[in-house]
Amino acid sequence: MYSAAYTNENHHAERVDFLTNRDKSPSKKRTTGVVIGVLLGVLVLAAVAAFLIWFFAFKDATEGGRISKRRAGAVQVFSGHLTLENVEYDQKLEDTLSPEFGALADDLEEIMAATYKKDPFLAEYYTKSVITAFSEGVVAYHWTQFDIPPSDLEVLPEFTEELIQEKLWTGVQEHGRKSRQNIQIKEVTASYTDPRMARNSRAQECFSRLEATDVVQAFHSPGFPVKYPAKSRCQWQIRAPENHAISLRFTQFHVEDDCSNDFVSIYDSLSPDSSQAITEKCGQRPPSNPLQVVSSSNILLVNLITDSSTQRPGFRAEYSLIPISTPKSCGGLLTNVQGEFSSPHHPSFYPPALDCKWTIQVAAGQKVRVKFNMFRMKEPGVDVRECHKDYVEVMGRKYCGELSSLSLTSPTNTMDISFHSDESYTDKGFIATYNAFNPKDPCPGLFACAVGICIAKDLKCDGWNDCGDMSDEMDCKCEKEQFACDNGMCKPNYWVCDRVNDCGDDSDEKQCSCGDNEWRCGDGTCVPQDVVCDTRKDCEDGSDEASCKVSPGICSDYSFTCKDKSCVNKVNAECDRVADCSDESDETNCDCGIRPYKLNRIVGGQNAELGEWPWQVSLHFKTRGHTCGASIISDRWLLSAAHCFKTISPENHMASSWQTYSGMQDQTKQAGVERRGLKTIVSHPDYNPMSYDYDIALLELSEPLTFSNTIHPVCLPAPSHVFPAGLPCWVTGWGTLREGAMRASRLLQKAEVKIINDTVCNVVTEGQVTSRMLCSGFLSGGVDACQGDSGGPLVCFEESGKWFQSGIVSWGEGCARRNKPGVYTRVTKLRDWIRTTTGV
Ligand code: ARG
Repeated sequence: MYSAAYTNENHHAERVDFLTNRDKSPSKKRTTGVVIGVLLGVLVLAAVAAFLIWFFAFKDATEGGRISKRRAGAVQVFSGHLTLENVEYDQKLEDTLSPEFGALADDLEEIMAATYKKDPFLAEYYTKSVITAFSEGVVAYHWTQFDIPPSDLEVLPEFTEELIQEKLWTGVQEHGRKSRQNIQIKEVTASYTDPRMARNSRAQECFSRLEATDVVQAFHSPGFPVKYPAKSRCQWQIRAPENHAISLRFTQFHVEDDCSNDFVSIYDSLSPDSSQAITEKCGQRPPSNPLQVVSSSNILLVNLITDSSTQRPGFRAEYSLIPISTPKSCGGLLTNVQGEFSSPHHPSFYPPALDCKWTIQVAAGQKVRVKFNMFRMKEPGVDVRECHKDYVEVMGRKYCGELSSLSLTSPTNTMDISFHSDESYTDKGFIATYNAFNPKDPCPGLFACAVGICIAKDLKCDGWNDCGDMSDEMDCKCEKEQFACDNGMCKPNYWVCDRVNDCGDDSDEKQCSCGDNEWRCGDGTCVPQDVVCDTRKDCEDGSDEASCKVSPGICSDYSFTCKDKSCVNKVNAECDRVADCSDESDETNCDCGIRPYKLNRIVGGQNAELGEWPWQVSLHFKTRGHTCGASIISDRWLLSAAHCFKTISPENHMASSWQTYSGMQDQTKQAGVERRGLKTIVSHPDYNPMSYDYDIALLELSEPLTFSNTIHPVCLPAPSHVFPAGLPCWVTGWGTLREGAMRASRLLQKAEVKIINDTVCNVVTEGQVTSRMLCSGFLSGGVDACQGDSGGPLVCFEESGKWFQSGIVSWGEGCARRNKPGVYTRVTKLRDWIRTTTGV
């Protein structure tokens, strides 16, 4: 009754166990009265009581859980292992159905039961102990369940791992000696365990035992690849011969997105105890990012837990044995001028409980520079300043978590890099490159940044963070047209009060407040306070009307217009998962802007992953291959730039000259890609090939697209949608990787760029931008779209969890030049034209 949630989910396999459990506490209350009674009477009464309690508990749970919620108690499960001293290992113990398993498991279960039942505190809550497996050693894997009724919930904090371990340790010594076989136990562990993973391996329900060999074998979740059943509690025990480890790789993985409903958890043990968890995952993983783990010894446990709502295809996994990783088999001495090294088994998760050490030694007089190109050692509940669990240690400092860039330089010609993984939770680890350099002249003819990279001398003190660590902008004397930041840096005057923290200490944005009765617009100008939310645009960027919850129904350029023509004064109200219009029209047609695949960001790299930008389209012109980009806005319509089509060559205007490729990442790969011809090309009637004003085109496909994990539309912003200055957005495309390069990129590229405020945009483009354009990029240069990216999308992620297209790649002076950001067609300005042309 009190463990309704648990009962509910386990009612088949474990119902019998709950009978005992349920009858326990009431019968206990009764005991005082009936101890003197006839023993038979007690038993009958208890059995009847048990039946009634079970009956009502079960009924409660199935009747929507209303009563059970009110009375819910708590279930505490602890699992771990016992190492037995005087028992000989017998292979038959691995078979849970063998008499050998039965005999030893029964004995141990009795010892554990006696331990807990004799304890004055725990006896009251003890329900059962189960032995689930044995491995060499002899190690027995166990779990124990305690049920705490709602009336006793205040004792819950007393159920600590320390308490259970201590009681178990003293109890099993004592009761082990008294047991039939005089079992001696030399080690015990017990850790918090998710009750859903406490399985009875003798029940054999959705339970499998697998033997890893050197041939790759596979298993899959029940119902794969259609869908797994609801309320699954499945377990796979994988073993390898002694002195081997196991490698497990999920070739397909598609579990519901919310890990609190469905998930797969993997343990470096045969017990699901949290201290030996390797990882817990849910969601869908693309083939380019498979989940791959390695055990530290010859055992591994995989669990699948599902609830009742959304069922997904599940997983297929391959396993095989590999040599055990030892501190000797990883790390080592590296003496080349340059090279690469990585965490053990990268890109698989590294194994738990492993230490490795690399020593890089270069010629005397030289120094070592190490750059981590990918670094992921994330663990739940770890403070990344302390890194008390898994870490990499270099020069006395520990690193953990996820780092996007890490470059280190040694003070001498050697550098030691230590890697440590503890017993629980592992991750993808790292890849690093190293090289030797001459400390007297680390950057011949150039400026040496503190991070170790070299930049041109005239980039020092120019206001731009060229080093990436600001070391080129420290200790500078500011010029006349520069602003002196409080931290000693110099920045161009026109960056002051632009709502972007350019100094890094916010000093360029500090004295920007307006007068007492004034309001500060997004671009820094001041307007009288009483024009805010007066339904008229007073700030150039409209920020005075952007968030006016107080004026319901009043319509301005900055309100969202519902289908019934009423207005919502809320910033970015469309598709934000909150129905703001009374007709809910702000939340219709919102199946857009999401990535069906779950992706791990590859830090530092700029190659996009398959499915990362599912709205991106490649436009091929005749036999010339990739020419422009576009984005999917519906199954029949693509959005692109007019300048891709309106050229002097009439062939560019013709729909038949073009082929479109959706779901593509690699230009040389066709799998999962949908090719469509074009039916019509509608370029904006006001497109101006001189100024690139109205650089927008709509492309109607010959046949509709079928959406998939890699093909999905982006959300279009309402005309009132605000993309504020400083907002980080992403531009994607197969355009050239450098200005002046001849070839388009083979792999889809992504770059993070920031929205630039309109005043600054106008200054840096010398007045060439119109209100149909917006700037995005970095004034410091270095990141931008380029030739071949045109027509492709600039997308921004909204808090509601969706990607909206803010721009279309249009033009720029060169690519990634300093002070020359990319210029994009402003989608909000042309939203209505898109709707009237396509109905989208
Ligand atoms: N017009 C170029 C094209 O046709 C795109 C230029 C974008 N340039 C830039 N610097 N953002 O592909």
